[in-house]
Amino acid sequence: LPVTVYPDPHIASQQVARRICDLIRRKQQNGETTVLGLATGATPIEVYAELVRLHREEGLSFQNVITFNLDEYYPMSPTAPQSYVTFMNENLFDHIDIPRENINIPDGTLALEEIPAFCLAYERKIEDLGGLDLQILGIGRTGHIGFNEPGSAPNSGTRLVTLDDLTRRDASRDFGGKENVPTKAITMGIGTIFKAREIILMAWNAKKAPIIKKAVEGEMSSEVPATYLQLSDNVEFILDEDAASELT
Ligand code: F6R
Repeated sequence: LPVTVYPDPHIASQQVARRICDLIRRKQQNGETTVLGLATGATPIEVYAELVRLHREEGLSFQNVITFNLDEYYPMSPTAPQSYVTFMNENLFDHIDIPRENINIPDGTLALEEIPAFCLAYERKIEDLGGLDLQILGIGRTGHIGFNEPGSAPNSGTRLVTLDDLTRRDASRDFGGKENVPTKAITMGIGTIFKAREIILMAWNAKKAPIIKKAVEGEMSSEVPATYLQLSDNVEFILDEDAASELT
């Protein structure tokens, strides 16, 4: 599994943003659209800040970019402060020139019975666009990617899932208590993520060191969904020194 370690998250985030920028520009030159898979959470915040800077100061345009976010809590109103719609607007979309209709985020307002059709349409839309060019990932302390918690199948698609207790505890600060964190989410599957032509998993901080060790060096198992990335030829782990500190 290719692992690149940077001295700190700032440099690492700039490198990732630079790669996204280069991809968008390369495809633009060929008149092509870039299809990006995006993550929320603390990890990619600086990547998005750097993309905003590249847009403002270096003329990077997102007119020909289409995005698919990995996940959204369920149920969740898009206007709630904790929604991933709000997160993406505040950290990226409100500050760049992406056409609103190019933004795709799982819909946390659906009725339960509408979810399966929505999930199939989400998969279909990605496929019809020719697939994800690049998928950005963080990793949860459960080993989740997207919200594919322990027990997720390697060929899983976009679906409604139940969040792990540890994931809800980690989110409790955003919600003012674990009891307020939704118990469910809609997430792209491991199979959906796998089809991306390029996958970058980022992790910073010593808190992630134990799960990074398992993901990179541990036996592949549905108990640590990120271990399935060991099967991919197109994945790179980008870490800071603290997240990498337990690797041998
Ligand atoms: C978010 C997502 C999650 C996070 C993970 C790490 O869209 O899919 O897998 O990437 O929970 O979260 P942070 O970055 O907050 O540590």
